[in-house]
Amino acid sequence: MSAGQKIYEGKAKILYTTEDPNVLLTHFKDDATAFNAQKRGSIVGKGQMNCAISTHLFQLLEAEGIATHWLDSPSANEMRVRAVKILPLEVVVRNIAAGSLCQQTGLALGTILKQPLVEFYYKNDALGDPLLTHDRLFLLELATPVQVEQLQTAALRINQILSDFFERCGITLVDFKLEFGLDAQNHLLLADEISPDTCRLWNQADSDPTQRVMDKDRFRHDLGNVEAAYRQVLERVLAQSVQK
Ligand code: TMP
Ligand code: ASP
Repeated sequence: MSAGQKIYEGKAKILYTTEDPNVLLTHFKDDATAFNAQKRGSIVGKGQMNCAISTHLFQLLEAEGIATHWLDSPSANEMRVRAVKILPLEVVVRNIAAGSLCQQTGLALGTILKQPLVEFYYKNDALGDPLLTHDRLFLLELATPVQVEQLQTAALRINQILSDFFERCGITLVDFKLEFGLDAQNHLLLADEISPDTCRLWNQADSDPTQRVMDKDRFRHDLGNVEAAYRQVLERVLAQSVQK
């Protein structure tokens, strides 16, 4: 697929225009960053693996009635997507305490939450993507009250679908980050990617707290075998049909 103009380059992906103004081409990179890009590296084959994993998970969600930006995947590390205006929000859903939730609340790693927690972070690298309260979110006019309600509902439904799917893969979905955008008709679409870069995934066959990690925490915390962990996620995800 011939790419047009580069319109945006992020830490893990590049966006290009296409001949259709309503369609963009996403190129998934092998580059990896963590801690607001203070740590940089590369994960061999990550672009292709994350593109394939995201493709499968977007197809799963579409089959369950969730509107996403995904159109098709013309090559191994490229995805054609509907052009959307991304809301400057990172919507995080947590089932089990890990990462910043543990650091900021003192909850022990692995604590099972009584109900899924939905959090909103301000997508702003210069500010370090801070956690938002609903009042701050409205103060900054990052989304309307109706949109926040829609995001909350969609995030919980997506969590249910993805948790059930990963369960079939023998993987626990600990937490994950979503991004949403508005299309030309102002419809809210799930955008960005869903991959081991944006989820915490624990192998159910391994109780060792280091060995079980199948996601970017292996890169963040220098746990080793990053490529092998991503490949294992890819193989297990592709082995499960998107139909129940
Ligand atoms: P956190 O525990 O560091 O707040 O991360 C929560 C989830 O969000 C975890 O699955 C990793 C994902 N995430 C991203 O996808 N991008 C980010 O920039 C950060 C900080 C987290
Ligand atoms: N993606 C973010 C970054 O590079 C943070 C992370 O995933 O840990 O900065």
